[in-house]
Amino acid sequence: MPKVTINDFLKKKSEGQKITMLTAYDYPFAKIVDEAGVDAILVGDSLAMVVQGLENTLPVTMDEMIYHTRMVARAAEHAMVIGDMPFMSYQVSVEEAVRNAGRFIKEGAAQAIKIEGGREVAEKVSAMVKSDIPVMAHIGLTPQSIHRMGGYKVQGRTEEAKNQLLEDARILQEAGAFSMILEAIPVDLAKEITNTLTIPTIGIGAGPHCDGQVLVLHDLLGLFERFVPKFVKQYANLKEDALRAVKEYISEVEEGLFPSEEHGFK
Ligand code: KIV
Repeated sequence: MPKVTINDFLKKKSEGQKITMLTAYDYPFAKIVDEAGVDAILVGDSLAMVVQGLENTLPVTMDEMIYHTRMVARAAEHAMVIGDMPFMSYQVSVEEAVRNAGRFIKEGAAQAIKIEGGREVAEKVSAMVKSDIPVMAHIGLTPQSIHRMGGYKVQGRTEEAKNQLLEDARILQEAGAFSMILEAIPVDLAKEITNTLTIPTIGIGAGPHCDGQVLVLHDLLGLFERFVPKFVKQYANLKEDALRAVKEYISEVEEGLFPSEEHGFK
């Protein structure tokens, strides 16, 4: 299967085909997600929470993001790999934003980057795109703004907030973003933004009318149990399976059942 490109994203929207996206943070999981046939893999800064065990996404560094992106890129034969710009890698200046975005492409072997924020990041998006770095925008609930937002809350509920998000979406498209994540916003607003934009929207907690969907892989597989957002569907419970396997190993070793003859050398 050929590698998915940003042109395929636009084509899927124009043909009314849904875009599928999941996060992954290392080689074995990226291999599974890629083999399953997902369109894009996001190396999300959610890795801070689901892999590093941190409280929120804020502490993860550029170097850590690049390290994980490289592992994922090695596994992804088909899916587009998108590196997520971590907190404070793009806020300070346009120059720093472009340099860090470039690291995802040059060192991480990603095909695109994702950046959180509305009109305030438009200048940076435009500068990245001018440097040939494809950019996925991310509006609505932006987890890096947790302290300003006062928690992980649904966004765009008031008329003013709704109009602001609609305007942000238009500005980011104008700045050159090739697609846009809509996170935790009302279903009708996500539908309106999706119908307004020519670039595809990828929803997470934004209902069924988006052009595509994304979930955090560890949520989908039942590997993150600290909290399960309302919009998550758990398709497996790997934590339970892994726990059972490890407990079985312990008891077989303790009872002298493992290793048996078949696992020994003559
Ligand atoms: O970091 C992440 O995994 C994300 C997705 C939830 C969209 O930003």
